[in-house]
Amino acid sequence: MVRPLNSILGRVLLSVPAVLAAIEVDVNNEDSIKKAAALVAEDLMSFYEGDKPGEVPGILPGPPPNGDYYWGSGGFLWNTLIDYGNATGDIKYVDSIVKGLGWQVGQNHDFMPTNWTVGMGNDEQAIWASAALTAANSGLPGPPSVESGWLSVAQNVLAEQPLRRINNGTCEGALRWQLFPSSNGYGYIQTTSNAAFFALAAGMAQETKNDTLAKQAASSYDVMAKIGLIDDKFNVFDGTQAANECNPKTVNRLQFSSNPGLLLTGAAYMLQQTNNDETWKKRVDGLLDHTLETFFPDGVAFEVACEMPGSGYTCNVDMEQYKGMLHRSLGQTMRLAPHTKDKILPVLRTSAVAAVKTCTGGKNQRLCSSLWVTGKGQTSEGNEAASKDGAAAQMGVLSALNSVLMANVIVKPATTGGSGSGGSADGGKGQGASDSSGGNKDTPGNMGASAAVSSTVLFGGLFFSAMTFF
Ligand SMILES: *[C@@H]1O[C@H](CO)[C@@H](O)[C@H](O)[C@H]1NC(C)=O
Ligand SMILES: *[C@@H]1O[C@H](CO)[C@@H](O)[C@H](O)[C@H]1NC(C)=O
Ligand SMILES: *[C@@H]1O[C@H](CO)[C@@H](O)[C@H](O)[C@H]1NC(C)=O
Ligand SMILES: *[C@@H]1O[C@H](CO)[C@@H](O)[C@H](O)[C@H]1NC(C)=O
Repeated sequence: MVRPLNSILGRVLLSVPAVLAAIEVDVNNEDSIKKAAALVAEDLMSFYEGDKPGEVPGILPGPPPNGDYYWGSGGFLWNTLIDYGNATGDIKYVDSIVKGLGWQVGQNHDFMPTNWTVGMGNDEQAIWASAALTAANSGLPGPPSVESGWLSVAQNVLAEQPLRRINNGTCEGALRWQLFPSSNGYGYIQTTSNAAFFALAAGMAQETKNDTLAKQAASSYDVMAKIGLIDDKFNVFDGTQAANECNPKTVNRLQFSSNPGLLLTGAAYMLQQTNNDETWKKRVDGLLDHTLETFFPDGVAFEVACEMPGSGYTCNVDMEQYKGMLHRSLGQTMRLAPHTKDKILPVLRTSAVAAVKTCTGGKNQRLCSSLWVTGKGQTSEGNEAASKDGAAAQMGVLSALNSVLMANVIVKPATTGGSGSGGSADGGKGQGASDSSGGNKDTPGNMGASAAVSSTVLFGGLFFSAMTFF
């Protein structure tokens, strides 16, 4: 989702007021995290206009110049809020989620609504589709417009994207960023598009027991490695030009955190489906070590390509969402591949603490920032730069809290086969019950079992009653 840096021009430079953090959190206390998350979610939704008369449901204000957000950000918004509901049992946003996600499925139920098709990237479509998968996993019923269920929408996206793969030459098998030759990004093989397809295909393969999807996921990883988007040290680069040959030597070597995150999620799904296959284990472990080293210096998420002190804070609103995506992916990874949890969870905790500390901005003195390491950044001229108050920063911090709260949800391959609609809550119950020996209620480390079960029941049940509004 890397866009040209021009949105920086519109960046408002704000000085960070020196006030006490308005939101406090004890990351070892489940109730404390839930309270903090509720405030961050409330502020997040204060930036969402889609429920107001005359506004478009599902999207955050945009795209530029009408607002900061491209269409794809809506997909991440709903992923974040569904996770929030899953993690906390708070059903406050269910109506907005169902309506917003449902509004954007488009006439062919493939997240290609006419309004947005022209400028659409494969990455954006896949991110919306992943929200549909999340919705299905969480028992969210579809609105009447999505009779065949959320999974069917994700499946439709997965059926389309492979048809867009480059089918000849050294770039064979890769997905371009944009869909149409007339779009600027058509000539670019963007890692996010390929990695998002990989994660989605691997997740859907698990959910629907579809071997074709598992094979497509695996081949998509292989292509990324072949053309040099992933190197043998598990660096994950931004992309490469498709115009001529795909040569690992000419890849765009910028590294953004959302990409290894998506790869980790997909690899963890594959590891589980292959019963701990060596190759996938090496990939999970290699990607994880590299990711923690690169993007969590001192245990706090850091977008190294655009917030390096000294070189100027250049993250745009898309990039400000990556840390949240990374937290989300790491949370999924440790749930799918439990051997990674001892490495991941402590880092998610220190990072979440730092993230919440930034929530001191805005009129209510609790709006969050995307600069978690220092709380402030620097422009290349040496002036102080802050991330923009807004949905991106709120989604990031909310994802960080969700990732810690969901630590003990255990994901196992579906045993009942894929369900067409949102009916996979059963899986959740069964899995929780088999692990309900957890003790101390105050530590999220132990909340999993029983808390996850009760929130499944509560959240799942209320999702259904919420549906009657539509
Ligand atoms: C498409 O645009 C129209 C006009 O602005 C709007 O009413 C409608 O809700 C939009 N649909 C989607 C899916 O964004
Ligand atoms: C919560 O998420 C887990 C893991 O994705 C899933 O197994 C479970 O069904 C979800 N439950 C709810 C209520 O969303
Ligand atoms: C499995 O996935 C493939 C590829 O998307 C699709 O063509 C096929 O219909 C799927 N099978 C089922 C049973 O959904
Ligand atoms: C691949 O096919 C396209 C479309 O037919 C063509 O323009 C392009 O030159 C071909 N590339 C290679 C490397 O053969």
